Amino acid sequence: RVAGPSSLVFFGVTGDLARKKLLPAVYDMVNRGLLPPSFGLVGFGRREWSHDQFKDFVRESVEAHSRTTFREDVWNQFATGIRFVQGAFDDDDSFIRLNETLEELKESRGTQGNHAFYLSIPPKDFESVLQMLAKHELAQQKDGKGWRRVIIEKPFGHDLESARDLNKIVEDVFPSDAIFRIDHYLGKETVQNILAMRFANQIFEPLWNSNHIDHVQITMAEPFGIGSRAGYYDGVGAARDVIQNHLLQLLALTAMEEPISFKAHHLRTEKEKVLEAVTLPENLSNSFAIGQYTSGYQGGEVVNGFFDEKDIPSTSRTETFAAIKVNINTRRWNGVPFYLRTGKRLGRRVTEIALVLKKSPNLLFNNSNDAGQNAIVIRVQPDEGLNIRFSSKVPGTQMAIRDVNMDFVYGHSFTEELPEAYERLILDVLLGEPPLFPRQEEVELSWKILDPFEKYWAQHNIKPDEYAPGSWGPESANTLLARDNRVWRRP
Ligand code: BG6
Repeated sequence: RVAGPSSLVFFGVTGDLARKKLLPAVYDMVNRGLLPPSFGLVGFGRREWSHDQFKDFVRESVEAHSRTTFREDVWNQFATGIRFVQGAFDDDDSFIRLNETLEELKESRGTQGNHAFYLSIPPKDFESVLQMLAKHELAQQKDGKGWRRVIIEKPFGHDLESARDLNKIVEDVFPSDAIFRIDHYLGKETVQNILAMRFANQIFEPLWNSNHIDHVQITMAEPFGIGSRAGYYDGVGAARDVIQNHLLQLLALTAMEEPISFKAHHLRTEKEKVLEAVTLPENLSNSFAIGQYTSGYQGGEVVNGFFDEKDIPSTSRTETFAAIKVNINTRRWNGVPFYLRTGKRLGRRVTEIALVLKKSPNLLFNNSNDAGQNAIVIRVQPDEGLNIRFSSKVPGTQMAIRDVNMDFVYGHSFTEELPEAYERLILDVLLGEPPLFPRQEEVELSWKILDPFEKYWAQHNIKPDEYAPGSWGPESANTLLARDNRVWRRP
């Protein structure tokens, strides 16, 4: 699959995301032959840059972060299609210049007037950019020729209401099939593999229900703190940052029924059905744990506590760790709680989905109490793969058992590289293929799940519990599972 002629315009091109992920991903796509020679890249930003200064910026970010080997000849071809438009989000003249630049690229490069606009900017700026795109006739195709698409980055709002407001602003300008909401977890190979694993095999699906599964744990742990992101993170917190989107998407893919095809509307319909079936425990106060990291030692180094991070006020109630418990009200999942947890400054970087099976009913072994619970663990990252944990006889004269792991590791089974999630997603936007992009209904359903927790924390002014850097979160996270006679897995 190779994209057709087009230009991609980045708003917010000097931000961290563009520098570390988006620009390198675009170069890698060029390098892998996924973008045609006619492709044009436009950066739009406030800096007083010439095209050449912007090219230098792109090159630096590519050299620092791209996954493929840098090739001078590929770069030179790509760089001839790079432009910079200096401007402000609410300034007519800037958008006139953008229009001229896109016209020039159409003529010189042959982009055929196909444009995708990537809004990697704070949501407060969405409205002015979108209105400017509309006003300057960039959002519609002229003479029915060429397509126009818009890519929006999370956060999609702050709660259900603001998500709806935001969506209205976007849908006033672009038709819904031209809107691509990025949840980069859906671009990850291992996340797409959830569907292959479940529905291409006969092994798993018979176990994938409340007859056999005791509970599900979805963990996304990161070893680093919030760094210099206070401006974004404070007031948002771990739950809005990743549970509302990444973790609930993982839950949806894990728990949904088989779609009748992988077409966007079939896939989205199944995800929405299961998100709509999510219910919260009656006693909300016993169904979460939130925390903030303290300063301390991690990996032999002294690290900042949350309140030492730049621009975090000492009164902040923003959580850097969140765990919640939800249920899914369907026949398949009745009585099987899903525990979701995420946090900064935890023991290690790991994202995994663990389906913990019920214990065998009648254990006859010398050391039956030592048998843990069987688990099927989808390792999203790092060490991408799948792990099955089960009990096995310990070699020797006793009939004793011990838990062992059976491992599928991508690197052992495939010679193909795992592409960066953004490569896949940007390619799909340029191809106009929406299955990996959540639609508005999913965004709203996810907020409906999270909003009651957020409201509870705000209304009761809940102070997040402290946890040490390098740990697995506050003690209250353990209590959350202990109440149900369960424990978190140690990834
Ligand atoms: C982003 C969050 O969406 O995902 C960040 O805003 C988080 O806080 C990041 O660090 C993690 O992405 P990945 O792909 O490294 O797991």
